Amino acid sequence: MSTPSLFDPLTVGRLQVPNRVVMAPMTRSRAGLGGVPTEVMATYYSQRAGAGLIVSEGTQPSAVGQGYPSTPGLHTDEQVAGWRVVTDAVHAAGGRIVAQLMHTGRIGHPSLLPDGLVPVAPSAVRAAGQVFTPGGMQDHVVPQALTEQGIAETVADYAAAARRAVEAGFDGVEVHAANGYLPHQFLAGSSNQRTDGYGGSPAARTRFVVEVVQATVDAIGADRVGIRISPGNTFNDVVEEDVLETYTALLEQLAPLGLAYLNLIEARDDAVNERILSLWADGVLAVNPSPLVQLQAPAGKDGAERWLARGADLITLGRTFLANPDLVERLATDAPLNEPDSSTFYGGTEQGYTDYPTLAQSA
Ligand SMILES: Cc1cc2nc3c(=O)[nH]c(=O)nc-3n(C[C@H](O)[C@H](O)[C@H](O)COP(=O)(O)O)c2cc1C
Repeated sequence: MSTPSLFDPLTVGRLQVPNRVVMAPMTRSRAGLGGVPTEVMATYYSQRAGAGLIVSEGTQPSAVGQGYPSTPGLHTDEQVAGWRVVTDAVHAAGGRIVAQLMHTGRIGHPSLLPDGLVPVAPSAVRAAGQVFTPGGMQDHVVPQALTEQGIAETVADYAAAARRAVEAGFDGVEVHAANGYLPHQFLAGSSNQRTDGYGGSPAARTRFVVEVVQATVDAIGADRVGIRISPGNTFNDVVEEDVLETYTALLEQLAPLGLAYLNLIEARDDAVNERILSLWADGVLAVNPSPLVQLQAPAGKDGAERWLARGADLITLGRTFLANPDLVERLATDAPLNEPDSSTFYGGTEQGYTDYPTLAQSA
């Protein structure tokens, strides 16, 4: 088959997407009190409805899953109502949007959580580094190791959040199993030191992720569920020593489920990328051509097209989409791009959020 162009349509699970450009999930920390999405969030996402698919910012499936200030949730009725305004605006603008379910696990701080809650994780191992809290930067804490019952409750929280996502008008969910958050903490030996059925061998370390995905599939259907992975990525202090074995075990279990898509953050070790291309050959593969996450310049059209030629079906772009609401049109016409301003990435007002101009506005 010949290489598709970035502007060719595709079937992704239940959705028909008009182009191959996916807006990457990006935390912007602008939700209202109680993790309720706001009107300005509806404006921000609907401005970007030209994406083939929008993946929302990381959204906590439970109160304890919140790791940063002012991130939205999907565990209360008020949050569902707030998201409904966002999804209606995106759909009215002709777009499609899935909710990224992000449980941050040990990345977080008790001061961000309701009374008495502490961050949870596979094992009581503190992550190196600090987290942004209302009281300034603070060290991560030693998390509480989940009991088997706690694991079962957490899995059920994901399923409930997936149901709430559909109720809120989302076209599906993406399970965030990348970048050192809870699911990735289970996959990595450095953060998962369990000796029960959830730790030890690569296959045992994949069990939590597979259970989460299976529960969301049971809740809303495989054709509305995607997953994001970042094999070998050390973000948030996770160290994976057996990347090929772990992700081979994971994808061998996920491939038969018929998920809508796999969203891969390009691995630095290209042997891992090759393995994933072959294990996911029958499914829809989205690739974020950004192995260093935010520590390198965003990929341009060339990088995107290189990955399409290698077998990716969709290309996930983050900061370029953040700064260019009409990114697809700009790529199609090789127009110049606005530069993202990192000082307004997290928190704040409309500035650096909904005020990036389109081509028409700049003209
Ligand atoms: C402001 C910002 C917030 C982000 N938040 C998330 C997030 O909530 N979930 C996630 O999976 N990745 C998150 N990322 C990572 C991006 O999805 C993406 O992988 C990264 O920016 C590299 O892609 P790029 O070079 O196209 O920007 C975030 C990145 C940025 C810049």
